[in-house]
Amino acid sequence: MYNIAVIYGDGVGKEIIKEAIRVLEKISSVFDIEFTFNRYLAGGEAIDECGLPLPSETIEGCKNADAVLLGSVGGPKWDNVPSDKRPERAILGLRKELELFINIRPIKLFAELESACPIKTEITNSNIDFIIVRELTGGVYFGEKGRGENNGVAYAYDTEKYDENEIARAVKAGFEMAMLRDKKVTIVDKANVLESSKLWREVTNKVHEDYPQIELDYLYVDNAVMQIILKPSSFDVIITSNIFGDIISDEASVLCGSIGLAPSASLGNNSTLGLYEPIHGSAPDIMGKNIANPIGTILSAAMMLRYSLKEHEAASAIENAVALAIKEGARTADIASSGSQNKVGTSEMADIIISHIKK
Ligand code: IPM
Ligand code: MN
Repeated sequence: MYNIAVIYGDGVGKEIIKEAIRVLEKISSVFDIEFTFNRYLAGGEAIDECGLPLPSETIEGCKNADAVLLGSVGGPKWDNVPSDKRPERAILGLRKELELFINIRPIKLFAELESACPIKTEITNSNIDFIIVRELTGGVYFGEKGRGENNGVAYAYDTEKYDENEIARAVKAGFEMAMLRDKKVTIVDKANVLESSKLWREVTNKVHEDYPQIELDYLYVDNAVMQIILKPSSFDVIITSNIFGDIISDEASVLCGSIGLAPSASLGNNSTLGLYEPIHGSAPDIMGKNIANPIGTILSAAMMLRYSLKEHEAASAIENAVALAIKEGARTADIASSGSQNKVGTSEMADIIISHIKK
């Protein structure tokens, strides 16, 4: 019996998590795996109910779970709350509280979605398949920040600070991932300007001594964003800091056709507890319309089965079912192009995926 902490969150979060749970219920019956889903509040819904984005019951519930499944948080309704009480604090706080120091974002283009990829086939080589390993609990998102005033001139600052242990554990985790793939790592940094990036390089070179099989490369982030568009098929594993990973993963996700397809896993130290969420946000403009793409969340549930619950067969069953749904032409609005495809809504897409789940 697996205890899953579920955070629906805001915007489209409620719609997509509902579908992911239906998929897991099908998994439960096909694979004879039992789940209990315990709901916790976070983000805007928590601000509305309890006055703060990350209530302590949510932290406790997630700590005691086998895994956390999260929709998305945020929305214009909470745009004017003080920054330490914004819905986004919930995600940052959960990552920190659960010590989830890396975030894995797979970027993979389904052959049938090539027409939804904004890059020409001559460039993609019909082969986009890499992962971004983003450091998740350090850097400028968690460094010292503040505001002040100097002779009547307002200022604000945020600090990018990493210690060698934080870098080493993220880099090691990325190298381990690379060992299971093509053994090719690209570190994305800004070592020509930032001191913290220089430390990343020093630490990475040291970690690399234990992984001689890995081909290691460094790219400055400004060049990297260009290469991701120009030569997406050249990447295998990208390892990078919190802020660079946040930025380039949104960029990279659209190579797959839509950010709505992209899942993520946030993991910590050997422990199996992980947090699984689509990389997209709460998309308030399309909430409640049954048009959001549930695939990013459903594939996040597959990652949960794989990384936290070690139910590899069940994880593959979801991934295969998603691939079949796409193959047979099911398309939510974000990945639909004109033509003979079957344009479906959020719940219809989940129905089709569920119909393909088998042992
Ligand atoms: C993400 C999101 C979050 C982040 C926000 C919601 C705090 O953009 O998961 O990429 O910046 O990490
Ligand atoms: Mn982001």
